[in-house]
Amino acid sequence: MNNMKKKFTAFEIGSFISTTIYDDLSLSPNTRKIDKQIGNLISSIIKNKEFTGKSNESILLRTPQTNVLLIGLGNKKCISNDKLRDAAAKASITAKNLKTKSFSFNHDVSDMTNDYIEAVVQGSELGLYNFNVYKSNKKDFRPLTMNIIIKNKIKTSLTKSIRNGEIIADAIMLSRDISNLPSRDCTPLQLASRAKKISSNRPLKTTIFNTDKLKKLGFGGLLGVASGSQQPPCFIIMEYNGGKRGEKPIVFVGKTITFDTGGISIKPSASMDEMKHDKSGGATVMAIMQAVADLKLPVNVVGLMPATENMPSGSAYKPGDVITFYNKKTAEILNTDAEGRVILADALSYAQNYKPRMIIDFATLTGACIVALGTAVSGLLGNDKKIINSLFESGERTGEKVWELPLTNEYKKLIKSDIADIKNIGGRGAGTITAAAFLSHFVDDYPWAHLDIAGTAWTQDGTPKKSYIKKGATGVGVLLSIDFLRNL
Ligand code: BES
Ligand code: ZN
Ligand code: ZN
Repeated sequence: MNNMKKKFTAFEIGSFISTTIYDDLSLSPNTRKIDKQIGNLISSIIKNKEFTGKSNESILLRTPQTNVLLIGLGNKKCISNDKLRDAAAKASITAKNLKTKSFSFNHDVSDMTNDYIEAVVQGSELGLYNFNVYKSNKKDFRPLTMNIIIKNKIKTSLTKSIRNGEIIADAIMLSRDISNLPSRDCTPLQLASRAKKISSNRPLKTTIFNTDKLKKLGFGGLLGVASGSQQPPCFIIMEYNGGKRGEKPIVFVGKTITFDTGGISIKPSASMDEMKHDKSGGATVMAIMQAVADLKLPVNVVGLMPATENMPSGSAYKPGDVITFYNKKTAEILNTDAEGRVILADALSYAQNYKPRMIIDFATLTGACIVALGTAVSGLLGNDKKIINSLFESGERTGEKVWELPLTNEYKKLIKSDIADIKNIGGRGAGTITAAAFLSHFVDDYPWAHLDIAGTAWTQDGTPKKSYIKKGATGVGVLLSIDFLRNL
């Protein structure tokens, strides 16, 4: 990633430059220069109304001098990090398609900020993301340098914003990679090794609890779900101390089901392959830990990842079984496919050992969340209005939108069990809320927020329509959490 401050150099023949234009269609100084060099093609296209500057609109002008991509940004007042992230992804994808080694991204308007630089770097990197581990031909053309052309002076160091943008993009790609990996190549123990490797050259401490330790500690939920699998489960703990000594940490918890068959309450076979993504919550938490360490954020953060497969077998836990969790509460298992809450129960209880400032969990928890909110917005529930409001604001700022569902006492009654403290499913309705009601039993009075990312963790067809999101894992939650932590 390069940057060119103020200076605007004429481009080489065969090169590629992208430039943003708002819907007022005024041309910034650099865009005017480009226009001149390509024989006023931009002006004439605008005059002919072939380009109107709406967001989502882009047009590639292939001229003998150079290739120019015009990217509409819509209304100037509605500009956001996410629009620039999307614009930059359009530019890098075009550069890749044109096979240009180096390209320039021009947004020489007066509102370029450090945040925007970060977003542009993220967009250009994420636009090129391609999960090609299993392709026999991995040769994938990638533009090597991107020049970000800016006009105005921006507040702090440009290099730092570029680096921060890269750090966050790398973390999002880590989350995507983990989520996209098939379960046979991403077992709980393989994830543990990955966490260790990530910590080896960073200020992170990783601890792994294996089966013996889990038995000693009484992680009945994680062991119960794992009992049907040939793969041993584990509990991954990543700790980062960037804050003051003794300052209470923020604990992130991620559902890490490396594959969810449903267990004895087995799922239908159609689309079951998508359940390799049921580790997305854990993938995002691991990525958050990597980003927090690389960004050197001044906070204490802990990441907890209960990891296991959910398989049917002769040794599997069964409907009717009663499980005792780490905090000694008991639950009657009425559906082995509602396993996420069962492993999270142990992890959330364990989180209390840290006397945390707050707990935030990410989980592909309920199909009901997709029914309620679709694939563009994550479900948000919890017991603390301040955290909920901050997460909502982070969602608006980053484009990783969240929406709160009510977690009131009426729903908590729906998971009372006849023979144990609670049962692991509610009635027919409000599946996302009864799942969160189950989790609420394991956080006591600590401030807590739960994000149900069942609809947003991966996409079938690239929806929501953002250029930096393709079919497969999205890495949702990383941008959101980093923004949240920075604005604490
Ligand atoms: N991992 C699934 C939730 C899920 C389903 C996420 C589809 C994304 C897409 C979870 O473990 C599950 O199976 N939940 C059940 C709960 C039910 C049995 C109460 C569900 O949503 O059907
Ligand atoms: Zn399930
Ligand atoms: Zn699941």
